[in-house]
Amino acid sequence: MLRTIRVGIVGARFAARFHLNGYRRVYGVPVEVVGVTSRSAESREAFARENGVNAYPTLEALCDAVDVIDVCAPGYLHETLAVAALERGKHVVIEKPFTGYYGPGGSEDFRGDTFPKETMLREAMASCNRILEAARSARKQVCYAENWVYAPAVQKEREILTKSGGQILWLIGDESHSGSHSPYYGIWKFAGGGSLVGKGCHPLTAALHLKRAEGEARDGKPIRPATVSARTHEITRLATFRDAGFLRTDYGDVEDYVQAHITFDDGTVADIFSSELVLGGVHNWLEVFANNHRTRCNLNPINALETYNPREEQFKDVYVTEKIGTKQGWSNPAPDEDWQHGYPQEFQDFMEAIARDRQPLAGGELARDTVAVLYAGYVSAERRGAEVEVPR
Ligand SMILES: NC(=O)c1ccc[n+]([C@@H]2O[C@H](COP(=O)([O-])OP(=O)(O)OC[C@H]3O[C@@H](n4cnc5c(N)ncnc54)[C@H](O)[C@@H]3O)[C@@H](O)[C@H]2O)c1
Repeated sequence: MLRTIRVGIVGARFAARFHLNGYRRVYGVPVEVVGVTSRSAESREAFARENGVNAYPTLEALCDAVDVIDVCAPGYLHETLAVAALERGKHVVIEKPFTGYYGPGGSEDFRGDTFPKETMLREAMASCNRILEAARSARKQVCYAENWVYAPAVQKEREILTKSGGQILWLIGDESHSGSHSPYYGIWKFAGGGSLVGKGCHPLTAALHLKRAEGEARDGKPIRPATVSARTHEITRLATFRDAGFLRTDYGDVEDYVQAHITFDDGTVADIFSSELVLGGVHNWLEVFANNHRTRCNLNPINALETYNPREEQFKDVYVTEKIGTKQGWSNPAPDEDWQHGYPQEFQDFMEAIARDRQPLAGGELARDTVAVLYAGYVSAERRGAEVEVPR
């Protein structure tokens, strides 16, 4: 009989909600979400009430009641919260971005767009290492909550790739939409960067995961990222930008557009795009060009449903898809958006990994490679696209 895994969530908003739903779909491993903590008593108590869990005033109090701490707070808190939980002997689940650089402590005038990016890269890697070292010392699991790894479209491609013995020559992927809802997004000292860290991380990690899987299947060792060349832009802050009112525009010191070109150990390549400039709902996809097949992984939208709605207000209580601007006309309502995004599969793997004491599919090494590419990408963007080595 497996012992019930008790989970505590830090954060009580968007990510906390879909994490809770994910844990509640886990089968075969007994799991209980025991409680939540967040910055304000009001928000954690409301979350607790709505979801039938307990509210805890501090991380320490939550730690005393659980086996796993799930970090759904803004990026600038990830390392502090995760290390504190690991030091108390808890497994950790950490949302994206795993960690990063959020400015020198206490500096009021820190601006991410002008701060030296080599320092950021060095500090972000040190932050990764501190989390992984704390996990090693505590002998606890680090689960990197990158749902793209678990999206059914990406996992099906992994099966095709590994069973057919394919070699990926080129990947191209994108996560974009019209702007995050989170007040922390768009401010470097809270978010650790802009579109690259906030959205580009998703297709990037899926690409890194597939190249790792290819190498492991063929040669017993992962193929890892070697270099990155990136450009970032602030399109909504251009003097020439004409705001028609549909895009979020209040970004402080971060980019709202990025393209990153990655080379791998074996010389093959990936191109990752991400922006806050895309209307019509989230635009999440990854295309794989292999030597023996080609796959387009559509995460969102997908066309399992095609619905025509002649009048907007008829769908006022109908959820269609994430960040869709209008429900009028033709749309593709998601039959189960959490599933197509890979959320239930992610928590299934994390809980099985913890129960069976094995590494999750999205673990610390993949998280560290992701952070290395993201911040080496910022070094490259600072040099207007020059090729930069990804630290190992
Ligand atoms: N994988 C995905 O698709 C996805 C989607 C959205 C967000 N995220 C990630 O999830 C994390 C949270 O994002 P969100 O959209 O829920 O943000 P949010 O702004 O909606 O909520 C942040 C929560 O953190 C809490 N918080 C802030 N400071 C805290 C502190 N000191 N101690 C405890 N709690 C604190 C706030 O009270 C709030 O409940 C971020 O890392 C974000 O990047 C991932």
